[in-house]
Amino acid sequence: MAKSKFEYVRLFESDDRCLSNTWIVVRIDGKGFHRFSTEHGYEKPNDVRALSLMTKAATSVMEEFKDICLAYGQSDEYSFVFRKETQAYSRRSAKLSTNVCSLFTSSFVYYWNEYFPTSRPLYPPVFDGRTVLYPSNQNIRDYLSWRQADCHINNLYNTTFWALILKGGLTPSEAEQKLKGTLSGDKNEILFSQFAINYNNEPAMLRKGTVLVRRRVPVAIPDGGTREKSQIVQEYSDIIGDEFWNENNHLLTLS
Ligand code: GTP
Ligand code: MG
Repeated sequence: MAKSKFEYVRLFESDDRCLSNTWIVVRIDGKGFHRFSTEHGYEKPNDVRALSLMTKAATSVMEEFKDICLAYGQSDEYSFVFRKETQAYSRRSAKLSTNVCSLFTSSFVYYWNEYFPTSRPLYPPVFDGRTVLYPSNQNIRDYLSWRQADCHINNLYNTTFWALILKGGLTPSEAEQKLKGTLSGDKNEILFSQFAINYNNEPAMLRKGTVLVRRRVPVAIPDGGTREKSQIVQEYSDIIGDEFWNENNHLLTLS
């Protein structure tokens, strides 16, 4: 077929294919969710409905993109890890990040009502998305450890901050002042001595964030009995230590 004289503009597009044999992570993050969470009445410090909606949207993404072997989410963010050898969209960076981000965002709105049955989003939520490459298994583990450590630091701070306000009667600026310069042991101590809260007994989903992986699980078949089926399951595991990776060795080895 004859090409138009305009065809040459295609050459202005850059090739953004990700390097072969590297882990591809797409991370999405809510834009201005400090405001979005306030305006939509999210519970403080954690809103289980909102976190569950994030996980529902992330599950939709994993159902669509079979080459995502693990996803990790906390607060207003989710990271999607593609198999090292994935050929999805010929490994084109923008194709991967925009498709993941778009499906995540539309799913977040699509399923909103299942988690917030009495309200509608007051304005369209926005998520940004980026693609980052990690060459070694140690790098990808360190990346996930970084996100889970971030979850721990923020959640311990927020749990203590809101206990001081909601149960201790402090103003936000008094609570901020009290927590200035404190270490994690100090925050654990405040929670325990002032509010009888043992931080380690807080729900694992809030302390650790959510890990999505595919597992073979038994499902019932019509004539009785069960058969195994691959399903996306949510877990709240520690992904910083070795145990999770020893038990899930298959995630880091080429298939
Ligand atoms: P940008 O990402 O830079 O656009 O800013 P942001 O306002 O989204 O902040 P950031 O991504 O750093 O942090 C997420 C923010 O979302 C937190 O600071 C909280 O204000 C809010 N948030 C996330 N999850 C919850 C929740 O379960 N409950 C409440 N109350 N707020 C939450
Ligand atoms: Mg954000």
